[in-house]
Amino acid sequence: MGRSGAGKTSMRSLIFSNYSAHDTRRLGATIDVEHSTVQFMGELSLNIWDCGGQHKYLENYLNEQRENIFGNVEVLIYVFDLETASRESEYQLYDDCLQKLGIYSKDAKVYTLVHKMDKVPDPEQKEARLELYRQALAKRSDLFKPEVFGTSIWDHSLYHAWSQIVHRLVPNMSTIERHLEKFRTLTDASEVVLFERATFLVVCYMTADMSITQSKYMTVSQAIKTYRNKCSAAQLTFQSFEIRNKNYSLLIEPFTKSTYILVITSDPEIEPAVTKANVKAAQLHFQ
Ligand code: GTP
Repeated sequence: MGRSGAGKTSMRSLIFSNYSAHDTRRLGATIDVEHSTVQFMGELSLNIWDCGGQHKYLENYLNEQRENIFGNVEVLIYVFDLETASRESEYQLYDDCLQKLGIYSKDAKVYTLVHKMDKVPDPEQKEARLELYRQALAKRSDLFKPEVFGTSIWDHSLYHAWSQIVHRLVPNMSTIERHLEKFRTLTDASEVVLFERATFLVVCYMTADMSITQSKYMTVSQAIKTYRNKCSAAQLTFQSFEIRNKNYSLLIEPFTKSTYILVITSDPEIEPAVTKANVKAAQLHFQ
């Protein structure tokens, strides 16, 4: 949900339809609501409703269609264009949506994306602008405590936000995390990450070094997705990826039907072939 031009269809197309950031310039305004269903992590079906943000549609969602639009919502993602000209009317629309959500889906989770952050290149200014949004939004909603992310289709920030969103939607996440940590310790790996196969979003990760932030893996997500698109444009298929130097070895391999795995080992005595054999041996267990 969000005003026309905020970037809703662009982000959906990047994450779920293999668009590049450049391709989104060709997108037209969404007519009414575009429904799509994507298979995620094998059996999970994500029903995505991309609600066109032109004034006439917004009026309709909030009135005639309110029960249909705001009923049975698991997650509402509200997208603000960072440079929205009339800020107050933008907040008003946001309030109206959350008020309807409170009536028809009070247990929904709300994520607020302050989008097109690339328009502020300076990192300090970026953080300051985001903080202004965070403070303003925290004051507005009593019922929902939205998480606020700064995003852009031009860097990994979009992957970061969407990985957080889908992380919440995957059932049995704690079981997957427990098993992944066991795999990591049994194989003496320093870092292990699971990526969803179709989107390359980070499902979960385990690391021996707690100071490692997940943004590192979001950068990998974005890079591999871009690389995979380039491969497919050249009619090649991306299969796996390997780097080895004197400090570490890194492997990205197909894992289960719905995931890829990234394994980093920093013990030079562990040959990549051993790590590959371990990945293969664990596949059945995780399937
Ligand atoms: P409606 O379908 O009318 O509701 O609009 P929308 O919110 O779906 O917007 P859309 O995705 O069509 O994007 C509008 C324009 O914003 C496109 O030209 C995109 O290329 C551009 N855009 C999307 N995301 C970003 C971003 O992160 N940064 C910048 N600079 N431009 C973006």
